[in-house]
Amino acid sequence: MAESMKGLHRSHRCTEVTMNEIGTSVTVMGWVQKSRNKGGIIFVDLRDRSGLLQIIFEENDIGAEGFAKAEKLRSEFVIAVVGRVEARSGAVNENLATGAIEVRATELRILSEAETPPFPIEADSKTKEELRLKYRYLDLRRPDLQKNLILRSRVATLTRQFLADEGFLEIETPMLTKSTPEGARDYLVPIRVHPGNFYALPQSPQLFKQLLMVSGYDRYFQIVKCFRDEDLRADRQPEFTQIDMELSFVDVDDVIDVNERLLAKLFREVIGVEVPLPIPRMTWQEAMDRFGSDKPDLRFGMELKNVTELVKDCGFSVFSGAVAAGGSVRGINASGQGDMPRKKIDALVEFAKGYGAKGLAYLAVNADGTYKSSFAKFMTQDELEKLVAAMDGKPGDLLLFAADQNKIVYNVLGALRLEIAKNLGLLDKGQYRFLWVTHFPLLEWSEEENRFVAMHHPFTMPMEEDLELLDTDPGKVRAKAYDIVLNGTELGGGSVRIFQNHIQEKMFEVLGFTKEQAYERFGFLLNAFKYGVPPHAGLAYGLDRLVMLMAQMDSIRDVIAFPKVKDASCLMTDAPNVVDEAQLKELGIAIVGTETECGKE
Ligand code: AMO
Ligand code: AMP
Repeated sequence: MAESMKGLHRSHRCTEVTMNEIGTSVTVMGWVQKSRNKGGIIFVDLRDRSGLLQIIFEENDIGAEGFAKAEKLRSEFVIAVVGRVEARSGAVNENLATGAIEVRATELRILSEAETPPFPIEADSKTKEELRLKYRYLDLRRPDLQKNLILRSRVATLTRQFLADEGFLEIETPMLTKSTPEGARDYLVPIRVHPGNFYALPQSPQLFKQLLMVSGYDRYFQIVKCFRDEDLRADRQPEFTQIDMELSFVDVDDVIDVNERLLAKLFREVIGVEVPLPIPRMTWQEAMDRFGSDKPDLRFGMELKNVTELVKDCGFSVFSGAVAAGGSVRGINASGQGDMPRKKIDALVEFAKGYGAKGLAYLAVNADGTYKSSFAKFMTQDELEKLVAAMDGKPGDLLLFAADQNKIVYNVLGALRLEIAKNLGLLDKGQYRFLWVTHFPLLEWSEEENRFVAMHHPFTMPMEEDLELLDTDPGKVRAKAYDIVLNGTELGGGSVRIFQNHIQEKMFEVLGFTKEQAYERFGFLLNAFKYGVPPHAGLAYGLDRLVMLMAQMDSIRDVIAFPKVKDASCLMTDAPNVVDEAQLKELGIAIVGTETECGKE
């Protein structure tokens, strides 16, 4: 039976009770972590979001009725306790913030009883994630998730403080809006008063923040939900949160400067990590050439080497053929891995194939200087020696090569480099290596759509010196875009925006829009630009990813209170779900096919 807390006021959270409170009376409230009845004396670990506090019940202090009540306590009961703080009578628990004290109860109220939870509420849970997500409200009681969400709140608070101090205004932008393309699919929202019409949930506030610059707000930020209907991964959710900002009268360096100071503050004040400033910068081309990735993980080496020139005429047709077809041959040196068993090498070959490789050529340098290799027999000793030297190959090293079109070679070796590092345990989560990647290509050729698409978004400014290439060789144009990368994760990205209408119109033209189509979709922006627009630039972080890395988690699900699973559903609420016929009718919507036919299983 639930009792009222009438007349009681919580005086402390569990771990706010310290040695200083010894001898005083406190009122604490929370959940029973564990209750141990030692016959005549009952020990209860009381838990709240701050941690644990030991309570002692003895009949002498609390009376027969109170003691009988204490005997009923089970895990997850919610209780209020009034008691006297004492130094611990038993051994001090070094692992607990409150390990040197205990509270001797003089009054107990059971505010709420609890059924046995489907899994224990404890750190480092071994329970399957699906079960934990179904009972997310219980999962969220666990100290590791609480720590993550507390950290997340701290990051948001400090971000607001910092940006406000830097003259940014926090301004909200609509959630029911017209789609602003970022390359993903939109979530659409039907509307009763306009049957057949849909809002889109924003993929980002991109256009609105640019319009705020047109309106003279100068520096804007928002911690904002964004929605993208894309395939989920460990670092991707259908709804996620951005720290979004836009600044007027600035160029690349101004945006980078304020963001480096923001990152340094967050890391220092939230997790005590010093970020050395300035953060290094690397062009996109260099990142691809050295790491095979536009988000290089700098925590380890194993850089790519280009051996195209060396092997272009060699006897191994996989190599020479790839070069003849306009591709390249590049390799990585997994140093010290020369004795990797054949099975593991085969697994790497399969892994590479998953990234589009036709194969993966390998060469291990034996201790005696001979080679164990999948292709040595096709090359002369001289060619092999030169190749090994170019790869800095020493006895005991394993060299891995990919030969193909550049894009595939980068993709394969970039992924392989990470896979090997992961297998070797080289990815230390406590080490933070930041990097700005700059000079991205403006456009990317889409085979699917048979046209150029914007690599970042269509509002990104081309580099001034490349402007002329927009007419002659659009694929070569570089953008004034930058990504902030941390440990191989794209934390955030942004760009200087196009603010001259003729360049924006040109950009739409290159993207294959007619002027009419461009105006139909983005007319409100193009029109706004006719009325006096300041040069502007901005950036957005994925807050979830930032917090994931700060909390040293593997998935953003661990730093989001109520995340979705791989098929974008919520296991706790069962969203998305079928709605009433009447609701659909009102919206003028008819469903084609059954739910299963529509794709949900
Ligand atoms: P972009 O599309 O690069 O840029 O997004 C910015 C950052 O948002 C995070 N992010 C995601 N996080 C979790 N789940 C997702 N599905 C997801 N998608 C993106 C990433 C990414 O770096 N408007 C521009 C920014 C600008 O130009 O100012 C934009 O949205 O960390
Ligand atoms: P094959 O001649 O197809 O048996 O290939 C000989 C070796 O070259 C094998 O180790 C293959 O995995 C490897 N290989 C095949 N295609 C490629 C490629 N495109 N890049 C790198 N290695 C390859």
